[in-house]
Amino acid sequence: MRIDIVHTGAGELNYEIRNIIRVAEKLQQFGIEVNLENIGDPVAKGETIPAWMKEIVAGLAMEDNSYGYCPTQGILETREFLANLNNRNGGVRITPNDILFFNGLGEAITKVYGLLRTTARVITPSPTYTTHSASEAAHAGQPPVTYPLDPNNHWFPNLVELRRRVKYNPSVAGILLVNPDNPTGAVFPEEILREIVAIAAEFDLFLVADEIYQNLIYNGHRTKPLADCIGSVPGLAMKGISKELPWPGARCGWIEIYNADRDPNFSRYVQSILNAKMVEVCSTTLPQKAIPRILRRPEYKTSLEQRRLRYERLSAIAYDGLKDIDGVLVNRTNGAFYMSVAFQEGVLDNRQTLDIAIPEAKALVEELVSSPATANDKRFVYYLLAATGICVVPLTSFNTEWEGFRMTLLEPDEAKFRVIINKLAENIRLYLHCSRGIQFSDRDMEALGSLQVGVGAA
Ligand SMILES: Cc1ncc(COP(=O)(O)O)c(C=O)c1O
Repeated sequence: MRIDIVHTGAGELNYEIRNIIRVAEKLQQFGIEVNLENIGDPVAKGETIPAWMKEIVAGLAMEDNSYGYCPTQGILETREFLANLNNRNGGVRITPNDILFFNGLGEAITKVYGLLRTTARVITPSPTYTTHSASEAAHAGQPPVTYPLDPNNHWFPNLVELRRRVKYNPSVAGILLVNPDNPTGAVFPEEILREIVAIAAEFDLFLVADEIYQNLIYNGHRTKPLADCIGSVPGLAMKGISKELPWPGARCGWIEIYNADRDPNFSRYVQSILNAKMVEVCSTTLPQKAIPRILRRPEYKTSLEQRRLRYERLSAIAYDGLKDIDGVLVNRTNGAFYMSVAFQEGVLDNRQTLDIAIPEAKALVEELVSSPATANDKRFVYYLLAATGICVVPLTSFNTEWEGFRMTLLEPDEAKFRVIINKLAENIRLYLHCSRGIQFSDRDMEALGSLQVGVGAA
């Protein structure tokens, strides 16, 4: 090209959650049966869509105006419905004009960061959902600016560190929180939200809260939506139907804007997001029409409750199965449907392996991990995939230095999930065990039982 046509932030756009599938597909060709525990799509994992919901969607498909464009901000009746839902709580009030629909939150995320001034940064949690960190970094053409979530403290944010990083980085204009969180499954108590709001108020920042999992909380945990805690700080919440209904293929999500009138600069920024949507015309029409019809149905509450109870059971199976492995940090998932398992510092190295029965699969993995740049947890994930068929995502691909992996709690067959967790636990122990210099407890040796373990295998 006459000039370099690649955006300065292009290198930041990497989505390991889907990249790993390419490897899984190759391994399938070699005869390995793969269990996809990587993607947060309940439908792909076999969630059945209730008949009453399908009937609503089918009915809408018979209405001619479902096939047309809709207003840029979204269908008014739906925005009125959503504004009323928000206003039932005691927090900041909104009108339908404070709501803007997108083709999925994926689009909202890229627009919200993409329309920020290049030098203005949003500090993102570490680890965090890749679409946030990658889109924010791509807009700036710089690596993400982050604050740590702490696996030694339920994956809650380290607020002292957040405040320090905001204070000493004047380019930070906003703070992102994802609550309940992807990838950790943490649910942040109200006090934490209020402290984050206080930091935003102190440094004149805006807040972004991704609340796509807000109605998927269990194990007796509670939180609040940002709207209830934000007071007079400008901010926006991201909401959607991909996980909750679940209907990810609808590509439908929205943002709710809070306190835009409190700050003229924030207000202009929000207007630019709306203008960008106007240039595109609008978002998908039919799913927007379906939202009030589905959410008003009494069966909706029941089906959501059944799903919460299932995730709760799976969170217990995963936690109980993995928590006693020496060398890993495990927290119970309390919301959304992910679990992040972190390896303690120094327990992974670049010599650990698992036995891979199929020679072609072994050769593929050896080639994939041959680069010295391969992260140690990515190496673990490849070996795990080829040795057991369990497909998880390396934790370092969620913008964190913690090595580990993220898995989902979406398997509809609980008995199968138990088998997967047991196999996972066994293979973590085997993998860690083959590393030189790491001492294993009697508990681990006992758990490995009669297995033939090649100590020191490279
Ligand atoms: C935290 C979070 N936000 C947003 C999204 C994207 O949602 P959508 O399907 O609406 O694009 C996801 C998808 O996994 C997510 O986990």
